[in-house]
Amino acid sequence: MAEVLGLGVTHFPPLSGTDESMGRILQRVLDDPALPEQYRSPDGWPAAMREEYGSDRGRSAARRHREALISGFHNARRVLDEFKPDLVVIWGDDQYENFREDVIPPFCLLAYERLTAKPWQYHRAPNAWNEPHDKVFEYKGHREAGKYLATKMIESGFDVSYAYEPLHHQLGHAFLNTLLFMDYDRKGFPYPVLPFQVNCYGRRVIAQEAGVRSLSELPAEGDLDPPSPMPWRCFDLGAACARIAAESPYRVALIASSSWSHAFLTRKNWLLYPDVEADRALYDALQKSDYKTWRERPLSAIEDSGQQECLNWVCLMGAMDALGRRPTETAFVETWIFNSSKCFAVYEP
Ligand SMILES: [Fe+2]
Repeated sequence: MAEVLGLGVTHFPPLSGTDESMGRILQRVLDDPALPEQYRSPDGWPAAMREEYGSDRGRSAARRHREALISGFHNARRVLDEFKPDLVVIWGDDQYENFREDVIPPFCLLAYERLTAKPWQYHRAPNAWNEPHDKVFEYKGHREAGKYLATKMIESGFDVSYAYEPLHHQLGHAFLNTLLFMDYDRKGFPYPVLPFQVNCYGRRVIAQEAGVRSLSELPAEGDLDPPSPMPWRCFDLGAACARIAAESPYRVALIASSSWSHAFLTRKNWLLYPDVEADRALYDALQKSDYKTWRERPLSAIEDSGQQECLNWVCLMGAMDALGRRPTETAFVETWIFNSSKCFAVYEP
């Protein structure tokens, strides 16, 4: 039996930018002509949101948000280093990056030999590290472990896809940002990585290109795609993955990477702020190891709350349930103005 570490983190893209641009998703909504006038100024917002925005248009909140996220990543990295994994499996979404019209796999193991990316190639805005536009990041993959895991998953009845090479994109931001943030201090990331893609965006993966849209550009119901995998299926897949990891020759770190409810997916809040209440309920269930709540949350509720990316965390919840784990550390970084609240969780062996 090998030991398994569980971690939950985020891959929030604006963390790789500057504090000044952290609120860009909210600003886009405020500039949207389709936003009803009463929501365009803080007077029309929930009190907690107004307070966070403050008198400096969220500048000091951005600094605090970054500090909380960096602290979460420092802690996750410390735990990961102490664990010394042979393999890091990351559950993450693909936002119309590697998978497009030609194929959308529900789940896909990216069993690459190596993972290469130039994160700043097409970015005109400065990045948080002041790194040059042509900076290349290279991480070790693990084709053998990918084949091992895909084989065992398929033998267990989970017909996962796998790939040995990228299709349209070197490395989707869910995986790349996780690695960039897990190495926020740029000391290097020496562990082999096995990205495990989950089609979190489902009905909006092609119709909305799994991205930010203004209110008037949201696809009509009839234009949506087939759904993501069901939450219970993600949960059971995570459970199977954990059992396989525990019986494997590898010391495996299982990481779920995503922010929770996204403002830009929460239509009922005019895309202005996320469903904080729904996130708090999930966080409460996480803290209590109430795995049933996670497994049984209907996809319709997840979509209504803009929690599509939480499906990555549902995989982790299934994994930790299968191993009989309770979280050893948790943190909830709540925000109303920076698109999504973030959660950090540690499940030490
Ligand atoms: Fe994402």
